[in-house]
Amino acid sequence: MPADTPAVAFDPALGLAVLHTPNSTYAVRIGADGSPRHLHWGPALDAASLTDPRSPADSSFEDEAAADELAPQTGARFGPAGLRVRFADGTVGAQWHFDGHGIDDGELRLRLVDRRYPLAADLCYRVRPGSDVIERWTELTHTGETGHIVIDRLDSASWTAPPLSDYRLSHLVGGWFSEFQLQRDRLPVAETVLTSRRGITGHHASPWLALDDGTATEEHGEVWSTALAWSGSWRITVHRNPVGRATWTGGFGHEGLSWNLRPGETLQTPVFAGLYTPDGFGGASRAWHAHVRSQVLPEPDRDQPVLYNSWEATGFDVDTAGQLRLAELAARLGVELFVLDDGWFGARTDDRAGLGDWTPRPAAFPEGLRPLADEVHRLGMAFGLWVEPEMVNADSDLFRAHPDWAVHTPTRDATELRNQLVLNLARPEVEAWVHRTLDRLVAENDVDWLKWDANRPFTEAGWPGHPDPDRLWIDHTRAVHRIMDRLRTDHPGLRIEACAGGGGRVDLAILARTDQAWTSDNTDPVDRISIQHGFSQLFPAQAMAAWVTDSPNGITGRTTPLRFRFHVAMAGALGLGGDLTHWTPEELTEAAELVARYKEIRPLVQHGEQHRLTGAGGTTAVHYAAADGTEHALLAWRPATRFGHQPAPLRLPALDDQARYRDLDTGEEYGGALLRHRGIELRLPVGDHASRLIRLRRLG
Ligand code: DGJ
Repeated sequence: MPADTPAVAFDPALGLAVLHTPNSTYAVRIGADGSPRHLHWGPALDAASLTDPRSPADSSFEDEAAADELAPQTGARFGPAGLRVRFADGTVGAQWHFDGHGIDDGELRLRLVDRRYPLAADLCYRVRPGSDVIERWTELTHTGETGHIVIDRLDSASWTAPPLSDYRLSHLVGGWFSEFQLQRDRLPVAETVLTSRRGITGHHASPWLALDDGTATEEHGEVWSTALAWSGSWRITVHRNPVGRATWTGGFGHEGLSWNLRPGETLQTPVFAGLYTPDGFGGASRAWHAHVRSQVLPEPDRDQPVLYNSWEATGFDVDTAGQLRLAELAARLGVELFVLDDGWFGARTDDRAGLGDWTPRPAAFPEGLRPLADEVHRLGMAFGLWVEPEMVNADSDLFRAHPDWAVHTPTRDATELRNQLVLNLARPEVEAWVHRTLDRLVAENDVDWLKWDANRPFTEAGWPGHPDPDRLWIDHTRAVHRIMDRLRTDHPGLRIEACAGGGGRVDLAILARTDQAWTSDNTDPVDRISIQHGFSQLFPAQAMAAWVTDSPNGITGRTTPLRFRFHVAMAGALGLGGDLTHWTPEELTEAAELVARYKEIRPLVQHGEQHRLTGAGGTTAVHYAAADGTEHALLAWRPATRFGHQPAPLRLPALDDQARYRDLDTGEEYGGALLRHRGIELRLPVGDHASRLIRLRRLG
C-alpha cells in the first residue's frame, strides 16, 4: 500500500476505529455506554500504542464525557451537546447502543441506535488519498412509523484536541468592508461560541478555527484546524473545561432552531472537516489549499480569468453604450472576462426597486443584453452578469405578484435591509422559479459567468402555514446549492462567482459549486492585505477575487499608486474594477503591462503553493512556489515607510538550500541557502505604499 494511501479500520473486539492519513492518525473507541469516544487525533500512531491500556490517550477519557464524538445530552455530560432531541413523551436526549460499522472506500460509518426510541445515527468519517483532512458528518434517521422526533440540535461532529499545556484559538472575524480578520487569542476556560444567525455564512465570523498550544508560528508547531462546509447559519462551540481539555462541536443552524424528523426521514448534516498538521499555520493553510483544490472546487485546474467588473465605475448607472466603452478599454488591457454588475434589470435605477424582476431595463438596454454580450464576445472576452436571485425589493413586480414568497412573519414588521427582503427558497415553487429564471437568462444571453450576490441576512424568518417553519434555515441554503449545481450541469461552460455583500458567504460548501468568491467590497489595497491574509488561512488564492480599483479609494479615501494596487490584487484572482474612462494613457499602459505580468505568474499564484511571509517594519509578502520548486513569484508590500529604512532582507523558507536561483528581472543569481537563511533584499521604492514583484527561477 503506498505510504499516502489512507487506511480505515475497525476492530470489533476492541470497539476501536482508526483512520490513518499520510501524516496523522485519528482514533475512536466505542465507550461502555455505547457512545463513540474520542481517543486520538494527531501524529501518526500505530494500533499497538492506541490499545496500550497504560496509554494516556486510552485511559484519560473513560469518565470524560467531553470527549464524545457527538455528545448526546444524556449521562454525566455537562458540556455543549452535539445532539439534542425530544421524543413525543417528553423524553430528552439519546442513549445509544452501538449497532455496528461499515467501511467503504475510505469512508467509515459507526451506526448507533437509541436503546428505546426509533432513532438511529450514523457518525461518518471519510479520508482521501494524499490528504490529511478528515471529513466528518452525521446522518440521523427516524426509524419508526409514526409521530415526529424534534431535533433541537444536530452537529456534524465534535472534535477533541489532545491535552496541551495551553490552548490558543485562531478564528476569523469582521464585517462589511473588513472581512476575514485573523483573531488569535488564548482560549478561555469557558464555552466560546462562534456562530452565524444570519442565514448566510456571515461577514462577522467564519466557520473555520485552529487550535494550538500557544507556541505555533507560521512555519513551526502543531495545529488542529477545522472547517464546516455550510453556507447558511451555523454554530461552533469551543469548550475548554477546568481540567484543561479543549473540545469543539459544530454544525448547521444556530441555537433555538428545531427540525421535526418525520418517520423514515434522514437528516444529513454538512461535512465538518478537520486537519492536523505539525508544521505551523502556514503548513495548515497549504494543506487546506490542497484539499480545497483537490476535493472542493469544481474546476481547480482552470485558470481564473482576469476580469473587469463595472460596479465601482458605474454603480447603478449602466447602459449598453457606457458598458461598451468600458469593455473596449478593458479588452485593450488584456482583460478576459467582462462582468456587468447591478442595475441592468427591472426598474433598478437604485437599490429601492426592481430586485426580482430579471428582465433588462428597457431604458438602459432597449434591445436587451444581447448586443452587449455579443460585442463583449467579439472583443475576445467572456461575458458575465450580476444577479441576486434570493432577494426581492418590495417595490418589484415579483413581490407584488407573490408577497408570500418572501421570508416573513405576518404578525411582525418585516425588516428591510438595503430595501430588500429574502425570498424563501425552501419553498419548492420559489426554488423552481429562481432556477428557471437563471437558466433562461444564461441561455438567452450567452452568459459565461454569473456573479451570484446576496446582500442581506434573514430576519423575521417565518414560513406561514408550514408545520415545520425552521426548516427554511437549512432548506433555503440547500436550494441555493442545488440551483448552482443544476446550472453548472446544464451549462457546462458557465462559471459562478460567490458574493454576499462582499465576502459574506465564503465557505467550503459554496466553493464546491463556484469558481471564486468576491472577498470584500473594500478594495483599498492597504486594508486588503489583512483581509487576504485571513482569507488565505483556509482558502487558496485562485478562489480569492481581488480587483484593482480607482485611487483615492471610494471607501477609505486612501490614495495609493497603481503599481501597489496591482501588486496586492495580483496575489489572488486578479480583476479590474476602476473607471477606466478616467485612467490616464500612462495608467492604462502601466495597467496593461501589469496584467501581462500577472498572466506570467498566474500559474504560480493560482496553482502553486503559498507561503505567507512577515518582514520587518510592517512589510509582508506572499511567496508562490511551483509544486516542483522550479518557479517562484514573490509579492512584497510595505504600506507605510518607517524612518526611511529599507526593510531587512526577507527570508524565503520555501527555497532549497542546495539550489541556485536567478532573479528573472535583474538577472542576479543567488544560492538557496542564502535566500532561506539570510533573505532577499527587497529594494522597495522609497515612500509609502511600496511594493515589488520578484520572480525567481531555479537553475538546474
Ligand atoms: C455587493 C457586492 O459585493 C458588490 O460587488 C456589488 O455587486 C453590489 N453588491 C451590487 O449591488
